[in-house]
Amino acid sequence: MGPASLSLALLSLSFCWAQMSNPDGGRPSCRSCDLRLSCNCSCRGFTQVPSVTDRALTLDLSFNNITTVTGDDLTGHARLKALSLRGNRLAVVDPSAFDSLSGLKELDLSNNQLSALNHKWFRKLEALVELNLLNNPYSCLGPRPLFEGLIRLRRLGFGGPALEEIKRGDLSGVTQLEELTVYANNLKRHESGALGDVWPLGHVTLNLHTPFLTNTSLASAVLADVSYPETPILLEDIHLIGNESVQPFREPARRRVRQLAFHNFSVSDEAIVNLLVVWDGVPLTSLHLDGVTLTGEGRWERAHHTDHKSFDEFFVRNVVVLNVFKFVSFLELGFLLYYPRKVSVINAQVFVMPCKTSHLLRSLQYLDLSDNLLTEMTLVETLCNGDGSLKDLRVLNVSGNALQSLSTMSRQVTKLSKLTHLDISRNGYSSMPPSCSWPSTLRYLNISRAKLTTITPCLPVTLEVLDLSYNNLKSFILVLPVLKELHLSGNKILRLPPGLLFPNLQTLTMQSNTLNMFGRSDLLLYKKLQDLQAGQNKFVCSCDFVDFLQSALKGGEVVQLSDGEESYVCDSPLSLQDKPVAGVHLSVLECHRVLCVSLSCGLALLFGNVTFYLLWRFHAFWFLKMMLAWLRAKHSSKRRRRHLDGESDGLLSYDAFVSYSERDASWVENFLVPELEEPRQSDEDSATRTPPRPLTLCLHKRDFLPGKWIMDNIISAMERSRRTVFILSENFVQSDWCRYELDFSHFQLFDGKAGGEVAILILLEPLSKDDIPKRFYKLRKLMSSTTYLEWPQDEEKTGEFWRSLHQALRGGEEDDDD
Ligand SMILES: *[C@@H]1O[C@H](CO)[C@@H](O)[C@H](O)[C@H]1NC(C)=O
Ligand SMILES: *[C@@H]1O[C@H](CO)[C@@H](O)[C@H](O)[C@H]1NC(C)=O
Ligand SMILES: *[C@@H]1O[C@H](CO)[C@@H](O)[C@H](O)[C@H]1NC(C)=O
Ligand SMILES: *[C@@H]1O[C@H](CO)[C@@H](O)[C@H](O)[C@H]1NC(C)=O
Ligand SMILES: *[C@@H]1O[C@H](CO)[C@@H](O)[C@H](O)[C@H]1NC(C)=O
Repeated sequence: MGPASLSLALLSLSFCWAQMSNPDGGRPSCRSCDLRLSCNCSCRGFTQVPSVTDRALTLDLSFNNITTVTGDDLTGHARLKALSLRGNRLAVVDPSAFDSLSGLKELDLSNNQLSALNHKWFRKLEALVELNLLNNPYSCLGPRPLFEGLIRLRRLGFGGPALEEIKRGDLSGVTQLEELTVYANNLKRHESGALGDVWPLGHVTLNLHTPFLTNTSLASAVLADVSYPETPILLEDIHLIGNESVQPFREPARRRVRQLAFHNFSVSDEAIVNLLVVWDGVPLTSLHLDGVTLTGEGRWERAHHTDHKSFDEFFVRNVVVLNVFKFVSFLELGFLLYYPRKVSVINAQVFVMPCKTSHLLRSLQYLDLSDNLLTEMTLVETLCNGDGSLKDLRVLNVSGNALQSLSTMSRQVTKLSKLTHLDISRNGYSSMPPSCSWPSTLRYLNISRAKLTTITPCLPVTLEVLDLSYNNLKSFILVLPVLKELHLSGNKILRLPPGLLFPNLQTLTMQSNTLNMFGRSDLLLYKKLQDLQAGQNKFVCSCDFVDFLQSALKGGEVVQLSDGEESYVCDSPLSLQDKPVAGVHLSVLECHRVLCVSLSCGLALLFGNVTFYLLWRFHAFWFLKMMLAWLRAKHSSKRRRRHLDGESDGLLSYDAFVSYSERDASWVENFLVPELEEPRQSDEDSATRTPPRPLTLCLHKRDFLPGKWIMDNIISAMERSRRTVFILSENFVQSDWCRYELDFSHFQLFDGKAGGEVAILILLEPLSKDDIPKRFYKLRKLMSSTTYLEWPQDEEKTGEFWRSLHQALRGGEEDDDD
């Protein structure tokens, strides 16, 4: 927020600067136009008309500080349909300011400072339908007729606190209107017939405060001009005191006006009595009072029994009784009650309507007593203890009272045999009896905004519309076979009620519950559902749900989600919280978790197996095992060496350790051992040399300490021998122990001493390097680098062989002796 508002402030700063640095008539601009080319430039503090795209269709410049509209300000706006300059400080408008607005239909210049009106403003506005000139300080409608060219004008408002005069001809050119509003609270002169040429005339609103108080003939003249039987007249801000102030109503009465309304109306007892006289025998059908102050004490003794047979509808709302404690009653006006079919007394501090009064309301079909002070006790009085007095009553509205008992309510209305609508919303009902008796005609029941926690079969099965929104319900399970509309918003319901219970349901509202999700299968149970509103719930955005909802929002399902996609917001998982469901994209990974888990497990297993196989294939375990064994052996040899403590030569007790396979034992025992340990004088040698020194060999069969770990034996044998002789053959390669020996030499070769000298290879049979397993790569390397001795197949060559062997075995002797 911080940086955003800061940059906003900077922007506006630079904007102001730009505005100021443009002395050459550069105008500020307003770019707040939406896709429908409706530009909302309201409340921006503009002091002149900003420039706006030419394509704009509506331009709202209301509540700025614009003082002037120049001739050029609006050029090029031929497409503009609506322009509002309401609530500026407009004092000067160029005569040609609106000339280019040939397509303009609505122009609002109300609440400005225009002290004179100019007919030239409107001369080109042939398309104008609505013109609002209210609340400007002009005192008359101008020397020349203003509206002459406005042939399409249908809604007109003019006048204000300064309007003093309405002359004949002021409205010339205006032939018919749907709406005429005239603020003439301070009117001083009115030429009779000044408004009289307008016909047909729709709704008329007149503010004639002062004329009604001080100049009733003036008020009368204005009323006479607009009184037609079909024209409803609304009078605002009127204060009726005595006999005199009600006389202007003779005109509408004479002209048989049917509908009168008063807003912000204060009236004395006397005025009411006299008004009834004025309306005696008049076909007034509807009287609508909103914002009434009764200044009297409810004394109508002088009221005559005037004739008001046509009186059909009486609506009164927001009543203030100034002398509420002295106020008597309306009973003397009881004769007024015989005829109306529709009575609304709303927010009028009514705490009881006496049963006597109810008896008088013989024609009543619609009774609205909402927002009053009714309780159980006074309701019983009002409905005459359920004796069915209001026998024609079809609609009863006691919304917003202090009622608490549903069983009392059902008992009181059960005999109203025509009752179809019952609105008992916004009362204090907290529980439902197990059963109730309702009139069999009841179709509509509204118990919204109460405190119900459960429902029972008290709810009648005849209902077509049921509103239980904003209670504390946790579930809704009840068969309602003819129900068409069910409203359950604002409860604590976890899942959609089972559709099978409502075979005729068409509309269901479930907003603001604790619904986690719903789906196609839930909706398929509703046979006739068309319209569902389920936004503002705690949705768990699972893949199925997101998928379904996006399809439903696009209209791809039978049921339409009519509350708009912005109401559907994810609540969980956390990563999606507060994101609109319509904008959520879930990856395949998130959507097929089980599949993904099993797939990845499978892959991991496969990978493991492959690795294992590869390790096995490349003898990694073997290497490992060897390494461990070698380390261990190394360790014990170190210990041994420490034990021997320096007798380094004592270590070397053998000339050679012979490593061979058990299968080659006979060769070793019969040829090698005799030849090396007890050498004979060979023929060739005899002449030249003394017989070679006998060598001591280490043979595992003979020299290994029994009971010692074989590895230890091998390691120590190798360590204590100058050289190691490998008798290589097929057998050797296959023998495990020999391999160990080989392996140790392998490691030992690493261990410092030059390999070539330490190991001597004897091939008992022709063995190619490729017959040696690959992992003995050291040996293979040896075989390719070092020359090895081959046991000759040919017996004659054995002499040579032995000689070479002797040489090899003694080769390092001199070095060792050094
Ligand atoms: C209009 O101007 C007056 C005085 O210049 C100022 O007090 C008022 O705040 C301004 N209104 C707006 C909406 O900018
Ligand atoms: C009601 O009318 C009186 C004059 O009778 C006027 O002073 C007052 O402002 C009006 N109230 C409203 C809310 O219009
Ligand atoms: C009220 O005034 C009218 C006409 O000015 C007059 O005819 C009528 O008698 C008066 N009524 C009362 C009760 O003074
Ligand atoms: C009852 O009165 C309330 C408040 O005036 C209104 O909202 C509601 O629509 C009325 N009910 C009926 C059925 O007319
Ligand atoms: C039920 O009553 C409430 C409160 O008076 C109102 O807002 C709502 O529109 C009514 N419901 C229906 C379905 O008319």
